Amino acid sequence: MIGEAVGSLNLKPGFVVLDATVGGGGHAKEMLGKILPGGMLIGMDADENALKIAEDNLKYFQGSFRLINSNFRDLDEALAKAGINFLDAVLMDLGISSYQIEDASRGFSIKFDARLDMRMDPAQTLSAYELVNKYKEKDLAQIIRTFGEERFYRRIAGAIIEARRKRPIETTRELTGVIHRAVGSRYKRGRIDPATRTFQAFRIFVNDELGALEKGLRKSIERLKVGARICVISFHSLEDRIVKNMFRESSKIGLVRIITKKPLVPSREEAISNPRSRSAKLRVAERA
Ligand SMILES: C[S@@+](CC[C@H](N)C(=O)[O-])C[C@H]1O[C@@H](n2cnc3c(N)ncnc32)[C@H](O)[C@@H]1O
Repeated sequence: MIGEAVGSLNLKPGFVVLDATVGGGGHAKEMLGKILPGGMLIGMDADENALKIAEDNLKYFQGSFRLINSNFRDLDEALAKAGINFLDAVLMDLGISSYQIEDASRGFSIKFDARLDMRMDPAQTLSAYELVNKYKEKDLAQIIRTFGEERFYRRIAGAIIEARRKRPIETTRELTGVIHRAVGSRYKRGRIDPATRTFQAFRIFVNDELGALEKGLRKSIERLKVGARICVISFHSLEDRIVKNMFRESSKIGLVRIITKKPLVPSREEAISNPRSRSAKLRVAERA
């Protein structure tokens, strides 16, 4: 949905824009193509490894972008650092990037065996290891239920406590093993892996993804110039609900005009060629 996302922002040469989740720089490259000459892109990411990849992918545009290692919840400080007050467009492409998923050492994916980690910002102290091995059973159950929307949350939390009584759960493979033994037979074969929802829940909690989204989105809207647009691509219903509600509340008080009454979703062709895009929802609002 790169084309739809960047197209929805009505970019023009000379614009000052924020890619709040620059990742590998794919969207940023498209945006730079539309704001030059004269424009400037601020690319932000909580993961400094992502910025190294973006730096390399954007080198052709040297001098027209600035990369900042920051969580978008701290947008004000990051923009102050860049000497920017107001923006002509903001893009937020939420979640984790394919680089992060494919980097086995980060522990994001059930596909690879790695130490339990899942931090987007490797400088942060809380990791999935602490969460899985130190949190109380009722807190784990609550996290798995709320952020994973997992029906078997009690059973999975119980199995984690049982397993870690013997020795700490150190790796993604050990954690998937515990979950599979606890609920594997209850999942219909072939749909999603029984560990997927629990992994999603732990990732969202470790990175406080929903808290960061609320703060970052509110601050982004405040920074838009009149007529400037914000486009948010989310990947699960918890994120989409926050975006939908914040756009709706902001529109009620006359702060924005909602451009997408219904979210845009990927075409059938895109969903087939890029299975990870299947759950994507794109919403756009314009500062009134
Ligand atoms: C789906 S990827 C973005 C991919 C990017 N649009 C591209 O074209 O390559 C999401 C990125 O956002 C970053 N991220 C997620 N939540 C963040 C947050 N709260 N603050 C800053 N960066 C965040 C992740 O580290 C990841 O690199």
